[in-house]
Amino acid sequence: MKVAVGHRVELPCTFAPLLIEWQRRAGRSGMPWQGIRDPYRVWLSEVMLQQTQVSTVLGYYARFLERFPDVQALAAADADEVMALWSGLGYYSRARNLHRCAQAVVAEHGGAFPSTAAGLETLPGIGASTAAAIASFCFGERVSIVDGNVRRVLTRVLAFEGDLAQSAPQRELWDLAQALLPVAPSVDDMTAYTQGLMDLGATVCTRSRPACSECPMLGICRARQAGDQQRFPVKTRTLKRRHESWWLLLLRLRGERDLFWLQRRPASGIWAGLFCPPVYDSENTARSALPPALAHALVPLDAVSHSLTHRELRLHPLLLELDADPGPTGWPDGQWVEAAQLAQYGLPAPVKLLLQRLLEPDLFAPANSR
Ligand code: ADE
Repeated sequence: MKVAVGHRVELPCTFAPLLIEWQRRAGRSGMPWQGIRDPYRVWLSEVMLQQTQVSTVLGYYARFLERFPDVQALAAADADEVMALWSGLGYYSRARNLHRCAQAVVAEHGGAFPSTAAGLETLPGIGASTAAAIASFCFGERVSIVDGNVRRVLTRVLAFEGDLAQSAPQRELWDLAQALLPVAPSVDDMTAYTQGLMDLGATVCTRSRPACSECPMLGICRARQAGDQQRFPVKTRTLKRRHESWWLLLLRLRGERDLFWLQRRPASGIWAGLFCPPVYDSENTARSALPPALAHALVPLDAVSHSLTHRELRLHPLLLELDADPGPTGWPDGQWVEAAQLAQYGLPAPVKLLLQRLLEPDLFAPANSR
């Protein structure tokens, strides 16, 4: 049976018990943000895990908590230090909002996170799904997360035909998610249910080739019954990334101290607020930012590609190695930063990699040339 948008939908009442049982038996366990009810730690993990894999998050999570063990420590931190600890995780607006959110919790809530999804959602950077995750994990609130993975699970189980590029079907799916929640759950039940939704979407009900034989919903999944899993979720608008080429001036001053010339990026736009070599939209403009004699000495390095949410960047590094500071005339804005201090600066991930390659060429040489 297919579910038509705007019609009453018959919901499988076994969904929640099956999910909870499966999560406890076969779901992910032992992650450092599981089995705790401290909203600060759960919030941090949820923000880091947005668009980032568990294996990547683990190290960042531990380092972040070591430096900022509670919301007060994070609120009091210098924004640049927060960005530096985030460097490499990408989607930097998350880090800026994280810092603002900590400051709001301290200034407006006496250092205690609100205990409901509605309250949490008023804070910077906490959207509906993250608020629901924190409220259900920490306070056992009966509220459903609906992120990309969960949308896939629910639209398949229900064979939900609504177009998720439109807001009315999105709201309808949210209502259905709420109606599927367990009845009178304990906090532990809500934790297992929410984690189960995440785990099922990430490990079993995957975008391509879902592992239906391992799925607790095998007997009730309408998409599977129709042999039509790939059709869900229905979404007409697909993201098109714009291709852009950037030329980066890698200006290096070698001497007793190894220095790189970095600029702070503007407060909005790509890599906002991070430190980066000067960026240009053509090789000519990059070259003409330097005195002609130096522009001639620029060495083009291999280009690298980097994907952002709405952009596909092709980065063309142009290297200039100097042994004396040429002084400020005819030179781009910015500052010299010591190579040894780079870890303290928030750098975009591909920039970090480019600079590491220059600093430790042996690490990046092809295996047969080492
Ligand atoms: N992605 C978002 N939240 C998560 C969590 N709690 N566990 C695993 N993956 C996640």
